Amino acid sequence: MVIRDSGAADLPRILAITNHEILTGTALWTIVPATLASRGAWMAERQGAGYPVLVVVENGTVAGFGSYGAFRPHDGYLHTVEHSLYIDPAAARRGLGTAMLDALIRHATAAGRHAMIGGIEAGNAASLALHQRLGFRAAGTLPQVGRKFDRWLNLVFMHRLLGPDPA
Ligand SMILES: CC(C)(COP(=O)(O)OP(=O)(O)OC[C@H]1O[C@@H](n2cnc3c(N)ncnc32)[C@H](O)[C@@H]1OP(=O)(O)O)[C@@H](O)C(=O)NCCC(=O)NCCS
Repeated sequence: MVIRDSGAADLPRILAITNHEILTGTALWTIVPATLASRGAWMAERQGAGYPVLVVVENGTVAGFGSYGAFRPHDGYLHTVEHSLYIDPAAARRGLGTAMLDALIRHATAAGRHAMIGGIEAGNAASLALHQRLGFRAAGTLPQVGRKFDRWLNLVFMHRLLGPDPA
């Protein structure tokens, strides 16, 4: 398994993983499929702003991706980032999600960020467990702020401070 920066050649796999989640899951709160162009624009915007878009490659295939960006636009939030990660279900439960989240934490720490936040649907036991294991704690739940597949979705903010002594 290798984790590296992504490039345009990775977009078809990033698109496939994204659209599988859009069509079948509740990690992305939209039912509108992404396109190669929209994923490309997102990657360019993130990388152009100095944020990472990482891919995890297993046996030569992109099996997942992760990224972080601004939590909120105002400069007072500069030290806080919001991340997300997606692993191909065909590669699930083999440690790729752990490796990707760890890489995002290391990247944000090296970049001098102070806090990381993940917004996770309250029923997403896998993601909640993964985040808890890597030092994130639930900082609050917003009930019924989303809707997909004809049901209300609750949003849990998982929060972690960064750095050598994140007290
Ligand atoms: C959540 C996700 C990233 C986990 O990726 P993964 O590669 O399967 O995770 P790992 O193999 O590193 O598993 C790490 C831990 O997460 C937890 N976990 C993973 N899948 C789980 C599941 N289906 N049910 C319960 N816990 C699970 C376990 O604690 C696991 O450790 P263990 O296997 O030693 O028990 C992946 O399922 C995914 O991409 N889901 C859809 C998108 C998403 O929810 N993204 C996160 C929102 S930011």
